[in-house]
Amino acid sequence: MAKKVILDCDVGVDDALALILAFHSPELIVEAVTGVNGNVPLDSVFSNIQKMLSLIQPKRKPIIARGADRPLKGNTIHAHSVHGKTGLGEAKIDLREGEEWWQKYLGPADELILELAYQFPDELTLIAVGPLTNLALALKKDPEGMKKLKELVIMGGSVRTRGNVTPYAEFNIFSDPLAAHIVFESGIPISLVPLDATHQVFLTPYWMDERIKPLHTPFSNFVIEATGYDLSNHRFKNKDTIFLHDPLAVGAVIDPTIVKTETLSLYVDVDEGEYYGRITEVRDGPKIDVCLEVDAERFLELFVARLR
Ligand code: RIB
Ligand code: CA
Repeated sequence: MAKKVILDCDVGVDDALALILAFHSPELIVEAVTGVNGNVPLDSVFSNIQKMLSLIQPKRKPIIARGADRPLKGNTIHAHSVHGKTGLGEAKIDLREGEEWWQKYLGPADELILELAYQFPDELTLIAVGPLTNLALALKKDPEGMKKLKELVIMGGSVRTRGNVTPYAEFNIFSDPLAAHIVFESGIPISLVPLDATHQVFLTPYWMDERIKPLHTPFSNFVIEATGYDLSNHRFKNKDTIFLHDPLAVGAVIDPTIVKTETLSLYVDVDEGEYYGRITEVRDGPKIDVCLEVDAERFLELFVARLR
């Protein structure tokens, strides 16, 4: 039985790869894709969602909605240095007039999430791969409605490893720690896919040259362009590695045996200062299934297989 999912994302490069994986996986039915301010501003995120859908051309058009354009509290940060000016790295996708591979929702993302939670009670997995602002807004509006979601699978945080924005905090959580705190305390079943796991899955010249380039599909070509891989020099132009953070969160829903989890009680630092956005293990707090180990080889094989 295919799993119904919503993908809440801040399309950036790895979010884009996660969208390809999700729509190319028969194990999932993507009911909706919602955008949130994160890697790049919301307008770019929403445009990138449409660009990716025009590349993917899903048979079943998902509903798309714009979400929060800033965090609940604190400053807005972006990650253009990682994802490029547009958020899709060096990939160029032109939207063709009149061709719509989506159904546009007129309301905000948090309302669409709640509407679908009521429509498909206990059936929906919400995969969140950007800052958690949209989920927190929905929880503020209707916490009981949000508990109709079957589970949340969240890419975010660093639990027993170093952060990627500060030594302690990971980008999605650091971008809106208050939202993360609200989501963690919601009582909805949560699986967390932190940097502890996602730093184990990354693209290398071997995967690019030997396994992805030879596929010669629009999707394998997109991976090369979006990641800025230089086929002649056999390296990524302005970065050493491309971590598959968001695709792993999708992979964990496609095949939960790809990851090993530990149930931990977690606390998010929401106060300004050195530890802003840090996640720490506490004795009594919300129980969250945290992915600390991953079968990296098996995941990469799955990811590449779905680029066809
Ligand atoms: O820290 C990695 C996360 O932040 C990924 O979701 C990436 O897309 C950025 O949003
Ligand atoms: Ca993301």
